[in-house]
Order: sequence, then C-alpha cells, then structure tokens
Amino acid sequence: MRVEPLKRLVGHLAVPGDKSISHRAVLFGALGDGETRVTGFGRSADTEATIEAVRALGVTVYEHDHDTLRIFGKGLRGLVSPGRPIDCANAGTLVRLLTGILAGQNGQQFELTGDASLSARPMKRVTEPLSRMGAALETEDGHLPLGIDARPLRSITYELPVASAQVKSAILLAGLYATGETTVVEPTPTRDHTELMLEAAGVTITRRESSVTVQPAERLDLGEIEVPGDFSSAAPFIIAATLLPGSELHIHGVNLNPRRTGLLTILERMGGRVTVYNRRRIGGEPAGDLDIRSADLVATTVLGPEVPLAIDELPLFALAASCAHGNSRLRGAEELRAKESDRVEATVDALRSLGQHVIATEDGFRIRGVPTRPRGGRIESRGDHRIAMLGAIAALASADGVEIDDAECVAVSFPGFFELLAQLKETSERQEA
Ligand code: S3P
Repeated sequence: MRVEPLKRLVGHLAVPGDKSISHRAVLFGALGDGETRVTGFGRSADTEATIEAVRALGVTVYEHDHDTLRIFGKGLRGLVSPGRPIDCANAGTLVRLLTGILAGQNGQQFELTGDASLSARPMKRVTEPLSRMGAALETEDGHLPLGIDARPLRSITYELPVASAQVKSAILLAGLYATGETTVVEPTPTRDHTELMLEAAGVTITRRESSVTVQPAERLDLGEIEVPGDFSSAAPFIIAATLLPGSELHIHGVNLNPRRTGLLTILERMGGRVTVYNRRRIGGEPAGDLDIRSADLVATTVLGPEVPLAIDELPLFALAASCAHGNSRLRGAEELRAKESDRVEATVDALRSLGQHVIATEDGFRIRGVPTRPRGGRIESRGDHRIAMLGAIAALASADGVEIDDAECVAVSFPGFFELLAQLKETSERQEA
C-alpha cells in the first residue's frame, strides 16, 4: 500500500469502539447471567477472535449489526470446554484475560493457541501467578499452546513484576473464583478497564494507590455496555494533524481514560495543541471530543511511569519526536519489545528507512529531531498493525510518500483505517482547492 504526502488535515471524524473495552465487554458478557447488549463494539480481527472464542465455549452472540452485539451469557461458572483448541489469533488481551477466566472453570480442561506472533509472546507472566492460585497450567517453555486444567483457586496477593494491564486483569478475573480476596500490586498504574467494568457489573473492587483488590463473586450483571471510541485508533490522526501545518481536526466520542491518554500529556509538554471539549462519560469511562491543531514541537523525555499510559502510542511518539526541535528520549519501555512485534526495533527500522534519526536502546529510543518533513521511502510493518499505521502517518507528513509493506494488518485493530484516511485526505484536499 502506498500513501502519498498531504499538505494539511482538516475535518471531523469518529473512530471505532475501543479494542480493550470491546474484548472485555464480550468476555464479561459471556460470564453474565442473561443478556448483555454491547453498542459501539469495536469490530476488528482481534475482537472477532474474542467473539469466536466465547462461542466455542457455548455462549450465543448475536451480531445485531456492525457494532451492536447481544450476548447471552452462561454465568460465571457456566462456560463449557469445546474439547478442541481455542484460537486466540493475534490477540494478547484475549489470551491473557481468557486464561484467568478459564482457570476458574473448575473441573474442565482447555487449550489456547494463537498465530505466529502471539505464539512468540510471553505467557509465563500469567501462568506464574495463576499457578500460585492453584491452577494447573502448561505452556511450551512459556509460550502457546497453553493448556489449562481448572481446579479450585485460592486467593493471593501478587506483586506484578511488569506493569501490565493484561496480567493484572487475568489475576483479578481468576480472583472472582478464589476462596478469599485477591490483591494485585502494580509497580506503576496501568489501564483500569477491567476494574471499571467489573465494578459496573456489581463486583466488589477496592482500589488503592498502587493495588487493586477483588472479592470473589457469584454473578456478573452487565445489562448494557456502550463502548467509547478507541484513543489508540484516534492517536494516528492526532499525530498527523499535529505534524501537518495548518491542520484543524476534530475527533468525536473518544475514550479519555487517564490511564490511556499519556500521549496527550507527552504532546502537551512538546508544545502540541490538543483541546478536549464536551467531556462526558461513555459506558462508565471518561470520554470527550478532541480539537487538534498543528504545532511546532519541541523534544521531551518519556520515562518509566509514563510508559503504560502511552504504551500503544510510543511508535507515534517516536515519529513526532523525530520531527521536533531537539533530542528526545524514551526510557523504561522494554515492554515494547514484547508486543505484536518487537516495537522498539520495528519503530526504529521504519523511521530510519524514511531518513529519520532514531536509535534503539535496550529500553526505548534516542531520537534526534529534525523539524522538516521525513524523506519518505518504504517501511516493513512486520505484520504489526501499529507499525503499519505509523507508516501511513509518516507518509502524510513525508516529502515523497511511503510504501507500506503488509499494510492489511491494520485490520487487527482498525479494519477501516485506510478508508477513513482516504476520506479525510479527500476532504482536506478539497478544502485546499
Ligand atoms: C491491553 C494492555 C496493554 C496494551 C494492549 C491492550 C489491555 O498490554 O499494550 O494493547 O487491553 O489490557 P500489556 O498489559 O501487556 O501492557
């Protein structure tokens, strides 16, 4: 796929429903008693894998229309083993959260598999705490396929060795089935969609500054879940409008959970001009509309505690910093190496091939900003949706355009990304004429 440069970006858009929240809506709906209606569902390859997974476990899901689901849950203890492997495709959130849920289905056996990328990602981070709770789990040297032999669970207090919302969520979900209260201690705060949705479903959750405690539960009552727009899908457009002089872009109905919007804090430090208006709550989550104007950026340093709050946007931060005045730095982000690709190497390779000055370090990047358009060229997405979108935004901001290899992988989180981009380009160019 080739994306040509653009002068400026103007217009209004909305992005599909949040991927993290959509996964949780389907998984928790599957555990509900009776019907859960999900609106604003973020349909993507990842979240469709979640629908298929719960169907394999005996749950009925009606796809009412493109983004409305009706899920007929089986109750917390009612999932039934399909007797064959459950394919989690490319979805890290699905495999980690489902492991916590299935560990609680006492007396049953399950096997989880995934694609080549997911099979290369670490699973010991979930099997270790869940084994301590009493589950019998088997992996191939810490990787998929993952076998689960569900047994009665005991509660634990667990200090997360890595800041990961997926691991925290897996333990909290297993905690619903444990003998007493289960506590997860976080080295630094991570996204809290699981806590918010479980609380809304009637589960007793106690939140302290650096820990979360869940009480065992008998049932989940979800009713209706409205999913706000995905901040991570809005982020490419935020960076595009920031980088293209004369831009004025509005993005409506975006999730603005502070554990997700680290990129806005980072951009603000860099001189970015993003204003939030119409603040409201959508589906129990903070949300609002964004007004983004182009800005002349200055360098900044991003350190450990800020990393989980911007984890999926760090490749875009690298692009912005490579076009800013001065030298930027990302540190404490070794987790980026354990994503759908090694995102430190994938980002650095992609940006360097466009002529940007970015160097990989063990735990992040060093970036020498040059406030002109990147040259352009060809980038390898490595089958990683976030890298393909990075390439597309770099292309808009480039002098010569960018050829993106395996661009179709955007479907993992945002199947309509290139169509939306084309529409926005057309609107922006028409205003230019
Ligand atoms: C997610 C948590 C993050 C994030 C991923 C989605 C979630 O992963 O990168 O895209 O839905 O909980 P980690 O928990 O591994 O950091």
